[in-house]
Amino acid sequence: MSSLLPIDATASAAATSAATIGAATSTAATSTAPKKKERVVGPTVPCPPAVATAWLILRVAVADVLGLAPACQDCTVSLLQPLWRKPGMAGQAKFSVGLGKKGGRGVVDLQCVDQVFVLEAVQAAANRLIAEQIDIDCWETTPEDLLEIVNATAASTASSATTSKNKNTVAVTLAVLHEHGAAVPPALPYANTNALAAIEILNMARVSVVQTGQRKAELTLMFAVTEQQDATEEKVAAVCVVNGPGPPSSSSTSATTAVRHTPKQCAAWNATKLRAPEGAALLQTAQAHQAAQKEAAAAATTLSAETTTAAAAADDADEMVVTIEDVKGKIDYTKLVEQFGSTLIDDALQQRLYDQTVGQGRVPALHRFLRRGMFFSHRDLDTLLGATEKKTPMYLYTGRGPSSDSMHLGHLIPFLFTKWLQDAFDAPLVIQMTDDEKFIFKGEYEDGAGDNLNHFYNLTMENARDIIACGFDYKKTFIFSDLEYVGQMYPNIVRIWKAVTTNTVTGIFGFDGSSNIGKVAFPAVQAAPSFASSFPKVLEADRDSPRCCLIPCAIDQDPYFRMTRDVAHKLVSKKHVLSGKPSLIHSKFFPPLQGATGKMSSSDANSAIFLTDSPEDIERKIKKHAFSGGQATTEEQRERGADLEVDVSYQWLRFFLEDDDELERIGKEYGSGQGEYWSTGKVKERLIAVLQDLVAAHKERRAKITDEEVRRWMTERSIVT
Ligand code: TYM
Repeated sequence: MSSLLPIDATASAAATSAATIGAATSTAATSTAPKKKERVVGPTVPCPPAVATAWLILRVAVADVLGLAPACQDCTVSLLQPLWRKPGMAGQAKFSVGLGKKGGRGVVDLQCVDQVFVLEAVQAAANRLIAEQIDIDCWETTPEDLLEIVNATAASTASSATTSKNKNTVAVTLAVLHEHGAAVPPALPYANTNALAAIEILNMARVSVVQTGQRKAELTLMFAVTEQQDATEEKVAAVCVVNGPGPPSSSSTSATTAVRHTPKQCAAWNATKLRAPEGAALLQTAQAHQAAQKEAAAAATTLSAETTTAAAAADDADEMVVTIEDVKGKIDYTKLVEQFGSTLIDDALQQRLYDQTVGQGRVPALHRFLRRGMFFSHRDLDTLLGATEKKTPMYLYTGRGPSSDSMHLGHLIPFLFTKWLQDAFDAPLVIQMTDDEKFIFKGEYEDGAGDNLNHFYNLTMENARDIIACGFDYKKTFIFSDLEYVGQMYPNIVRIWKAVTTNTVTGIFGFDGSSNIGKVAFPAVQAAPSFASSFPKVLEADRDSPRCCLIPCAIDQDPYFRMTRDVAHKLVSKKHVLSGKPSLIHSKFFPPLQGATGKMSSSDANSAIFLTDSPEDIERKIKKHAFSGGQATTEEQRERGADLEVDVSYQWLRFFLEDDDELERIGKEYGSGQGEYWSTGKVKERLIAVLQDLVAAHKERRAKITDEEVRRWMTERSIVT
């Protein structure tokens, strides 16, 4: 992953008044750098004028849409926050705006609107401002005037920045969007608004969007700019480099005017009111949501105790990384759901699931992963259940990226649950083996020896054996290797390629100019099975098929399907209940042996139990490596009991011990240091027995699966009856 570099606003400036604000910007960035391990403050990256302009416009759009006073106490803090850019990604950048108290200080309560709507509204407002070709003003003022115009925070920060840098400098130069406010330090070159064609907000996995945490709300936007196609060299030359002593004279550029705003003129900026039509629609949504919430107060969503505890335990959000390539740190699932924009599974939804599955007599009980909140989040599962209630056909889609010849217990989670879903809904299932993905991301090429593409194809065959051993219904299951089956999906892959921009893909997945083109192209391959028409024979479907798709997976796979859902309507008929969008049901991560952070990974053999491990391996790994939440001495353990939240053996039992009563007993006894399971040793013994049985039974089923049988499961045939 490339590191993010802050734009140093002092970059091109001589020590001018403008640069003094920039100095504060870069100082702030430098001082926060050590805390953020992923970020490296490195050499200055020159910022293209179009990006600097987009930054300014977006700040205005945020304020106008949410009804914030652009110069309000909270927002001005972010005046000094840097713009982050990745080396090699000329047209993209990222910045944050502080929004004040929880829910934001503006007119729209951010706790009542889906972040997707907020982003859409901000993007629409920004592009409208571009279409209106608003001027950029450069404005020089003194800290004293600034105090009168905006507020104490901005002025005192500006003032200390000015004086600490250079005692003789008294002027502060700001760039503002004409008559809109939202100043930013103009040590960067600004284009005029008609040099920009569009701004796209990238809804990416690693972006925190609207964070309504305990103390403050914050909006972090990653965006990409498209410059006017017909921008001639002349226009580029007309870009204003706002540096030098004081604001530029109006003759220095046709695009930017030097304006001296008086306090009176600026008063409008300080009003907390909606200034954008896009904000009015957002407000309506928020108000409707609030009304609905009041009505449903009795049936209010109950977060599982586990989720709440996880939220309380997660004290350092910077440590949490969840991407398709990496899962690290203590995962705060509540925050993750907020960032990703999915929805927690509540009691009402569990009840609907129960009615359609257990209630129909197809399975004896809700799966333990649902009962215990391991499958905790969803997208449009409620809509899908509404459709299946009315007998709309559905199918299940899940997958595996074959990167090692043996799968581990973590990989088993979605497959065990999918097996339950297949029984519970009596549904056809397609399983994608992304041998192409693993080659693209991990494959090797050596001069002379060639590449190892076939290795990944062979792993597909090995992993398919493990998957079949989970007990799926042959008549209703189709397993396919991308390398073999891609031809049938190709028309849909092409449609997805056409509908998704490179900016979106790089934004979502964090690719950059050095990524191979396979990485950029692959997400469409994982998206394609979400459409029944990718299976003309297997699901007997064409583009008019009403069949809905449900995808069980751990939440790390969600970025693929966010991208898919955005363009889904282009691949189905207008009548499709979900406009083609696949529904998702997400699981939490099965933790590694070393502790309840990150996810189990194949690359560290001691962090994982593999489905090929011997009983002795299992015993050794658990005894030696399973992180204990028990106390240091027997006395302390007897007195205080273990910390179950961090104890890996207990957490693993929650995943794999079926009996609710026994689990509850173990929890009570271990948590209090009393009874049979008072100690770590006793709990580990129970876990070892559970896993030895599970792995032995799995191996026995797997051993009976011949190569011919694997081929039968991978043969294209109808799985709908
Ligand atoms: P892969 O092979 O990394 O993982 C396969 C499935 O296992 C889930 N998973 C885990 N679940 C719980 N705890 C863990 N520690 C853990 N590690 C992995 C993954 O979320 C996934 O569901 N690109 C995909 C393959 C794929 C796919 C799909 C997955 C293609 N189409 C549709 C899900 C749904 C991959 O490499 O998965």
